[in-house]
Amino acid sequence: MKVTVVGAGAVGASCAEYIAIKNFASEVVVLDIKEGFAEGKAMDLMQTASLNGFDTKITGITNDYSKTAGSDVAIITSGIPRKPGMTREELIGINAGIVKAVSSSLLEHSPNVILIVVSNPMDTMTYLVHKTTGLPKNRIIGMGGALDSARFKYRLAEALEAPISDVDGMVIGGHSDTGMVPLTAHATRNSIKVSEFLSEERLAQVSEDTKVGGATLTKLLGTSAWYAPGAAVSSMVQAIACDQKKMFPCSAFLEGEYGLNDICIGVPVLLGKNGIEKIVKIELTEAEKAKMKESAEGVRKTNGLLTL
Ligand code: 2OP
Repeated sequence: MKVTVVGAGAVGASCAEYIAIKNFASEVVVLDIKEGFAEGKAMDLMQTASLNGFDTKITGITNDYSKTAGSDVAIITSGIPRKPGMTREELIGINAGIVKAVSSSLLEHSPNVILIVVSNPMDTMTYLVHKTTGLPKNRIIGMGGALDSARFKYRLAEALEAPISDVDGMVIGGHSDTGMVPLTAHATRNSIKVSEFLSEERLAQVSEDTKVGGATLTKLLGTSAWYAPGAAVSSMVQAIACDQKKMFPCSAFLEGEYGLNDICIGVPVLLGKNGIEKIVKIELTEAEKAKMKESAEGVRKTNGLLTL
């Protein structure tokens, strides 16, 4: 499998590194516009191959999309990350033009590619790619929920004082500080509902901490996080590469599912060789339905800032 990562910044390089280490891809091409930057990142990563035990060939290229030709999956991380105090939505002015140009360049050389959108505001960027490329909706996947769910599990394990491997939980809705919907009613510790162990107040705090998980790190780091985003992307790409039919919350184009139309927003999907194999319908509580509706209103508001 050939994978392209556009953007050799911290997120893109982490995507490339985790994909390589998982050793399911034959080749990863990292592309950036900054002269030599992707080449340097790729060379540095290749020099970990003997130490980390992978055979994936990682190459870097400066702004030459011909080298991405024939990619099976391409990840769009390019654009500016947020600074402390910024919302993801504030990035739309710069990132929309970049994402539109990048997706077009990728498709020119890889007409059958599956696109994974990471650039923020991610749900709106995913919608932009859907509207401007006309690709089948199964081949445009927004990465947000996989990351938010990882943060949810981290916070749940912290509250439960349990190993993260004992915990399961999912976050759907918009990938925004206010629009995420952590499914606390479905979260479990060893298949037992976490509400058996945590008070309503503590669960509410876990939800709030999850929703601002990205902003918390941006405040600490001075820029957006990169390890967990990279790991989330690599797990999604692995599910596609290995046709796992694995469930992730991803930003997908909806046509009536969850009562929503003409929007890209986080819902449970099965990822396999065709990208989004299926959008999974789960029963939401009334409160979760209301939060999802409110989240969609927020995403639509950001979508309204696009000039398509
Ligand atoms: C995050 O939440 C970058 O949106 C990404 O860290």
